Amino acid sequence: MIKAKVPSYFKTRRNDLMAKNKGGVFVLPGNHHVFRNPDVEYPFRQESNAYYLTGYDEAESWIVITPSKFVMFVREKNAEREMWEGQRYGIDGAKSVFGADEAYPVSELKNKLPELLKSSDTVFYRTGMNSNNDSVVLEAMEKVRISLGRSGKSLQNIEDPGRFIGEMRIFKTAEEVELLKKACSISAHAQKAAMSFAKPGLNERDVAAYVDYELLRNGCERVGYGSIIAGGKNATCLHYRENNEPLKDGDLLLIDAAGEYDYYTSDITRTFPIGREFTKPQAKLYDALLKVQKETIAIIKPGIAYKSIHEFSVNALTDAFLSLGLLKGSKKEIVEKLEFKRFFPHGTSHLLGMDVHDVGLYMINGESRKLEAGMVFTIEPGIYIQPGDDTAPSEYKNLGMRIEDDILVTKTGYENLTQEAPKEREEIESLKK
Ligand code: GLY
Ligand code: MN
Ligand code: MN
Repeated sequence: MIKAKVPSYFKTRRNDLMAKNKGGVFVLPGNHHVFRNPDVEYPFRQESNAYYLTGYDEAESWIVITPSKFVMFVREKNAEREMWEGQRYGIDGAKSVFGADEAYPVSELKNKLPELLKSSDTVFYRTGMNSNNDSVVLEAMEKVRISLGRSGKSLQNIEDPGRFIGEMRIFKTAEEVELLKKACSISAHAQKAAMSFAKPGLNERDVAAYVDYELLRNGCERVGYGSIIAGGKNATCLHYRENNEPLKDGDLLLIDAAGEYDYYTSDITRTFPIGREFTKPQAKLYDALLKVQKETIAIIKPGIAYKSIHEFSVNALTDAFLSLGLLKGSKKEIVEKLEFKRFFPHGTSHLLGMDVHDVGLYMINGESRKLEAGMVFTIEPGIYIQPGDDTAPSEYKNLGMRIEDDILVTKTGYENLTQEAPKEREEIESLKK
């Protein structure tokens, strides 16, 4: 759908970005179409940094932001191509809808780029993502170097733009929080609906289709990542993606699925019985995991170190593993020697935003960064008893479970953005009646 005019916050972001660095020029290629088969493309999604700074969502574009202007290189309007592929904004749209100071056909990029780069000592560009793009930028920088001759001016540096853009994206503005809340609410609803929908006799694929349908029909443009719909022992595979096995009574179903709303994604996992109730061993493990997950969320407030989230979950889960008979020995040693990883092999949290594993530094000058209002991340402890693990108590064999919520740090504490997705055992079981 063609937009009439993008919100002014995109311009505010460009202004903030230029205020934060000293006179650099940012070169951001948009994503290209990728072919799956002849004439068949993978669904297009704009590169996140490019979208964050413009709201522009067409392929084959480049964005250049210099200290004095915002320049876009875009596909020209073309009636023949638009008949096949849909409307384009063209050069005029780049200016009138997206506020470009100057806009050119993307075929002009090689000619114009050296002049645009010349204005700055530092080119902010991410190398190594696409060798064709790298060639365009490096050739333009070479032209600038040659043009400097013996002027005595120093050569340009190339730096990763993530240092500045990542640091901006880590703190969500009010508008971004609204979009995240929408993604989270739709996703929580889809998770809840799936609890009622899933039953013995269906296939994981039925549930996958149903979850994606619920996400899309309620306003998400796409899923935020490939949905994980893992019944029974499949849940012990952390990134299970086949989603094609029958669902059995007595097994649990792990759903890690969420939607993206205007380029902001949620990330939710729930684990629940395929039949009507948790079995006793499932309930014991689930209750222990839920307690740890809730207690970990409760520590969130500005000022604590990001790494304390994982440390807290590891400690609390290790206690649970000891009392459930999954591990024996000294807690200190289990933690120090990472023995807990046998049942909890992944991290507890990651940043969340436009990307499901979002940008932003976790460490600053070698130290864990402190939580600040506006940060959003997941809290997602899990317990997995691998099918090949013959020494764990047999009642827990093949169980895999994870509970994942999305947490916004506020000035005084936190807000759980995904609390509408049920996770209390009684509430889940009541949805299965
Ligand atoms: N959905 C991927 C993750 O939880 O990190
Ligand atoms: Mn996650
Ligand atoms: Mn997830």
